[in-house]
Amino acid sequence: MKILGILASHQEHGLNAKMLAEVLDNVDPSVETETIYLENYEITPHKYHEKNAVLDELSQKLMDSDVWVFAAPTYFRELSGVLKNFFDCMRPKFVYFKENGDTIPGQFKNKHYLSISSCYVSTLENFLTGVTDESFKTIDRVMSAAGVIKVGEIVLPNTFGMKEIPNNKKELCHKYAKKISVKKRKDDSTVKRYIQLFFMIAIMALITMGIQIPLQGWIENNFWLNYVSFTVIFFVLLACILHFVTFVKHRRR
Ligand SMILES: Cc1cc2nc3c(=O)[nH]c(=O)nc-3n(C[C@H](O)[C@H](O)[C@H](O)COP(=O)(O)O)c2cc1C
Repeated sequence: MKILGILASHQEHGLNAKMLAEVLDNVDPSVETETIYLENYEITPHKYHEKNAVLDELSQKLMDSDVWVFAAPTYFRELSGVLKNFFDCMRPKFVYFKENGDTIPGQFKNKHYLSISSCYVSTLENFLTGVTDESFKTIDRVMSAAGVIKVGEIVLPNTFGMKEIPNNKKELCHKYAKKISVKKRKDDSTVKRYIQLFFMIAIMALITMGIQIPLQGWIENNFWLNYVSFTVIFFVLLACILHFVTFVKHRRR
């Protein structure tokens, strides 16, 4: 089992480097790790028919590892240019093209990744305005095209004047270090998602039926009134939960 850290910051020893080291230094002792600093490579696009030794070398490193950890700061509310350039140049290796121009995941399908990003703005501002959102979304978009599975993400806001990583973020790095130390199956979240869905529906149905009890005088065993009131209450609860899960819980802080 091998984990590859990919540092894509202007600073080789900055906060992203520290976060990455905090993860890699805390993986299980049996796990091999390697860190590459993208600024050390002259990454240029693949020209037709020409060999590109740098891309081949990087591609081999990706192939030899089971989990990739990307550490890239947020620059101008976007992913750092060096990581974006790496993704752009690696496209022919990340995806295969079908005859109609559509792409399908390439040779790295079913590997796993963890993303790390940081920004100057405060935790509250990042929570409210999503300064780091585009950085994570770009990584997710590229990895999804390549069929690489997400393990999680770590965000470090408030980096202005910061010299050391706060303890709560160090703990988060250690938690992910343990998580990525275990060899993963293709996508082991599927069963978990179905179980979550089952319990979500079971609890919502219970609440809906509980809300219907005081309405019994109005419903009076009428099948259609029962059905319509159940559907409306269930829909409102579902909308609230979905709003919470997609907009509130997933805000980065
Ligand atoms: C070119 C550049 C653009 C940046 N743009 C933003 C930004 O839009 N919002 C923000 O909060 N921080 C911004 N920052 C701050 C970086 O995100 C911050 O310096 C980063 O956390 C430092 O990571 P490092 O120590 O690994 O280099 C920018 C920094 C640079 C160098």
